[in-house]
Amino acid sequence: MKKIDWPFEFPGTYWIDEKEENAVVDVIKNGSLFRYYGLNNAKYVDAFEAKAKKYYGVKYALGINSGTGALITCMQALGVGPGCEVIVPSYMWVATVGAVIANNAIPVLCEVDESFCLDSVDLEKKITSRTKLIVPIHMSGCPCDMDAIMAIAKKHGISVLEDCAQCNGGSYKGKKVGTIGDMGIFSLQLNKNMTSGEGGLVITNDEKLYFKAFSSHDMGLIRVNGRLAVPEPYAVNWGQGRRMSELCGAVASVQIDKLDAITGSMVKSKERIKKGLAGIEGLRFRKLNDATGDSGPFLIMILEDAKKAIKVAANMKESGLRNIFRIADYGLHIYYNIPSLVGKVPLSPAGNPWSLTENKSSDYDYKKGACPRSDELFARSILLPIPSKLTLEQEQSVVEIIKESVK
Ligand SMILES: Cc1ncc(COP(=O)(O)O)c(C=O)c1O
Repeated sequence: MKKIDWPFEFPGTYWIDEKEENAVVDVIKNGSLFRYYGLNNAKYVDAFEAKAKKYYGVKYALGINSGTGALITCMQALGVGPGCEVIVPSYMWVATVGAVIANNAIPVLCEVDESFCLDSVDLEKKITSRTKLIVPIHMSGCPCDMDAIMAIAKKHGISVLEDCAQCNGGSYKGKKVGTIGDMGIFSLQLNKNMTSGEGGLVITNDEKLYFKAFSSHDMGLIRVNGRLAVPEPYAVNWGQGRRMSELCGAVASVQIDKLDAITGSMVKSKERIKKGLAGIEGLRFRKLNDATGDSGPFLIMILEDAKKAIKVAANMKESGLRNIFRIADYGLHIYYNIPSLVGKVPLSPAGNPWSLTENKSSDYDYKKGACPRSDELFARSILLPIPSKLTLEQEQSVVEIIKESVK
């Protein structure tokens, strides 16, 4: 088997240069590490939010400490709590389901289809009188079928929170992901399309949701000129101390200018790799809900059956390819690999959220088998990260390795 030196899958990191460095140094030199005040005013989180509003074309953008923090905060703003069910896809990240639990609500699993995003047919079947929120996750870089999801949400009067952590810069039918539902969240953690190491972003066009999220991410109040101020009663909340630091803001405010170049590079590499793999018997790619909206960071390959996928993944690993996963083995991205979900681990000794009277009608199983169509798909699919700065030679080599591995 041919050997390959495959770069890491940290897209934004390969694009860091003196611009990020200068911004970070500026924060330090100004003694301005807190976004609201300091020795001087560097104001990088403000700059990041202003750029984000323009980039996504939304009225409100809120820098926050992480994608997980963004999810918990948005769910709080959207009124998720005891007695509420939140629909999440079977292919996810533990943070999405964890945010539901953190708000004392109950997650309801929904199948994914061959796009590896929410299956809208199953979605409608999972709605009950207690469904408060649908969380479509634009998984592994590609957008969900948002037309179908929004139509179902509208029909049943349910809110939609888009989890765009893995699809920053992606779009659906010309609209940036995160701008279609009631709110959208992003993660700026190291593995994401743009990064500040840690960090997150909330976007919305809804003023009330913005101020509720703002007060919940900070101290339960709003800020005027950086100082805490009492908002209208609807926005008074319990704060969670999830503010973005100026050091994160410094990096994020530079990286957002590079986001389209980063995703563009991955999309082009992926197109060339897919072209090189076209026509191989028994190898297909994931379904794309909008091919022009792909943000590029992963290629998902679908094989004939689990046995074949195990063999192909092992062959590919042998070549030196980093982080190849048969999706079934892809850690906390798969519902049945999350021990705290399968075991219904409570948040406190009182047993909440599972034990709450308000949640007693929402008794679900999260063990393997809960989403059988997803299970079958995960077993025969392989995920290949597409690094953000590949040479044509590396692309050609990976094509040869995959061809060899599938034989
Ligand atoms: C789909 C999804 N949602 C949420 C998150 C959480 O983001 P963070 O790691 O910034 O808390 C991640 C991060 O891996 C993710 O992949």
